[in-house]
Amino acid sequence: MENGGKMVNLTIDGVQVSVPDGATILDAAKTANIEIPNLCFMQELKPYGACGVCVVEVEKCPKLLRACATKASEGMVVNTKGERALRARKLALELLMGDHDGDCIGPCKLNCPAHTDCQKYVKEIAEGRFADAVATIMETFPIPSSIGRVCPHPCEKACRRRFVEAPISIAHLKYFAADRVRKDGNAHPVKIAAPTGKKVFIVGGGPAGLTAAFKLVQRGHSVTVYDQMPEMGGMLRYGIPEYRLPKAVLKAETDAIAALGVKFVNGFKVGRDGTLESLRGQCDALLVANGAWKSSGMRVKGEELDGVWGGIDFLRAVATGKKADIGERVAVVGGGNTAMDACRTAVRVGAKEVFVIYRRTRAEMPAEEIEISEAEEEGVEYRFLRAPDEILGKDGKVCGMRLQVMELGEPDERGRRKPMPVPGKFEEIQLDSVIAAIGQRNDPEGFESIPQTQKGTIVADEATFATSIPGVFACGDAVNKGAGIAIGAIAQANEAALAVDAYLCGREYAPAKPVISEREVSERDFADREKIARVAMPQRPADERRRDFGEVNLGLSEEAAMAEAKRCLECGCHDFADCKLIKYANELKTDTKRLRGEFHPGFVEKKLVCIERNQRKCITCNLCVRVCETKAGKGLLGLVGRGFKTVIKPEFESPAAIAGCRECRMCVEACPTGALRFVEK
Ligand code: SF4
Ligand code: SF4
Ligand code: SF4
Ligand code: FES
Repeated sequence: MENGGKMVNLTIDGVQVSVPDGATILDAAKTANIEIPNLCFMQELKPYGACGVCVVEVEKCPKLLRACATKASEGMVVNTKGERALRARKLALELLMGDHDGDCIGPCKLNCPAHTDCQKYVKEIAEGRFADAVATIMETFPIPSSIGRVCPHPCEKACRRRFVEAPISIAHLKYFAADRVRKDGNAHPVKIAAPTGKKVFIVGGGPAGLTAAFKLVQRGHSVTVYDQMPEMGGMLRYGIPEYRLPKAVLKAETDAIAALGVKFVNGFKVGRDGTLESLRGQCDALLVANGAWKSSGMRVKGEELDGVWGGIDFLRAVATGKKADIGERVAVVGGGNTAMDACRTAVRVGAKEVFVIYRRTRAEMPAEEIEISEAEEEGVEYRFLRAPDEILGKDGKVCGMRLQVMELGEPDERGRRKPMPVPGKFEEIQLDSVIAAIGQRNDPEGFESIPQTQKGTIVADEATFATSIPGVFACGDAVNKGAGIAIGAIAQANEAALAVDAYLCGREYAPAKPVISEREVSERDFADREKIARVAMPQRPADERRRDFGEVNLGLSEEAAMAEAKRCLECGCHDFADCKLIKYANELKTDTKRLRGEFHPGFVEKKLVCIERNQRKCITCNLCVRVCETKAGKGLLGLVGRGFKTVIKPEFESPAAIAGCRECRMCVEACPTGALRFVEK
């Protein structure tokens, strides 16, 4: 800078700064380590002044000034954090985000309750990097083989590939990668921090307790898990049948957690073998994750008869090798996944006729469609639009059930049509036993000292999972809304582990929902995509599998898994970690949808030899154009169109201009958003 050595002195946010004459306010702020957001600025280029996010307040100046384009002057008093400047920046960001048609995070990851990075591990599988894929999954939870087998995969329900033909088989890919890496014995080592000297007790060794233990041991805490059952795994071991999740697979995963230094104490029931208070007295923090182990009743006459089972009681009896004497004709009441597990288990323990009684129709069943059809293939018979009215008995034992015939009425608040009894219409069936699989709840015994909801679940803070007892946290099926799916309990366990860690380290824990950009898409956006069939999971034939507890699914081959993973559309932005636009939007808690309107023309092209330009994410900061001209000395890019319709294109879109690209990547590096990407050839 030619300034003859002259310096100017100014004050920024109360800090005295001395900079060479000619420096901008942005330069001066940098000297004082004060960050002013900027999107269209680059040190080596002339200021452009397009984005408006660098505005600051200057004393005695009525207007806000752009820090990147305003020279610092003697005696200037700058406020970078004044309310007016922050409001203007926020507005500038809202305008940019309102015209920003990009997905920061893929819908699969967003829709996974635990936000497992599905897109990342699917890509790693597509590239044959199976150990990396498992490491990615294990950033979120420690039991990928088990969850890959049992998860009802809400990620797949949101998968964008459904707009082309069918969602990516995300859960089965997880199952494949985790099994493969375990068999090959080449998992990446789990890093454990230096010991903190803090002791954590966890009550419950199911998916939530195991996940929290895994997270807390990695942070250097000493962790002991207490569980009432003889082995760890909770409902995964005692509620999910062997044919869906072999106990040996789960055991290998729980053993791997123990190998990290987590202590397991089995056969310990709080209230029977020790009080909650005595446990709390022996540790620095206690996490209750004891699950929901009580079957809900049907509230009909005859429920006390011999031969009436609770769904999870029946599954637990079979899982622990007890003789489940259910006879030949069995009715399972309910339409969820536990009902499916119960009816298919009933077939396997020798029942000749198994009926599923459900008060709505097949379309409303909460169970996974695949479970419903697999049960049917194994001989289970559905009785839809029927509800138990009375369980009939003879000599104190079940002999049948009176069914109320139902019809569907108006949709309820969740949009599901309400089942209504058809007056006076009943049926009877002869039965040897009835299994009620209509829900499960927690057992409050032993936890009475923690306040409970009207439903009998433990009350815990929705964000921090802290209970009213200092140092006692609670998460999973036993808490607040009660039982849900395993990955939901895992999601809570991740948050609870962070909260416990913060408590142990004396930090405050205040999680905030990140600000992101999300696209709204429809089938039309994918009309040009080639249709590629989803890879099917190979299975044992129904007639064979219904006779034993051997695993139904046979697992994907490496070839099939990689082909399936390659179908991924890579929806989430490659630049999320480095994108300045979303960084500032988060810092200023910007509402990304407030000013959403028409989007400027959007297209994705891979024209500049190796550079993919996604115009939908471009904020027309013009940095790539200026860098190409000034730094790369090429000048291949230019602004095309006017005003709102302006887009960046190679000059005249000519093949000559395109061929001139020397793949220096300078434009990609300069781009403050994810609009540019270098594509490996
Ligand atoms: S460019 Fe930035 S804001 Fe846009 S989708 Fe990518 S990460 Fe999100
Ligand atoms: S296509 Fe890939 S990135 Fe997109 S939602 Fe599906 S799995 Fe996720
Ligand atoms: S593509 Fe070019 S103009 Fe668009 S945001 Fe990136 S650098 Fe700026
Ligand atoms: S206007 Fe200053 S950085 Fe964009």
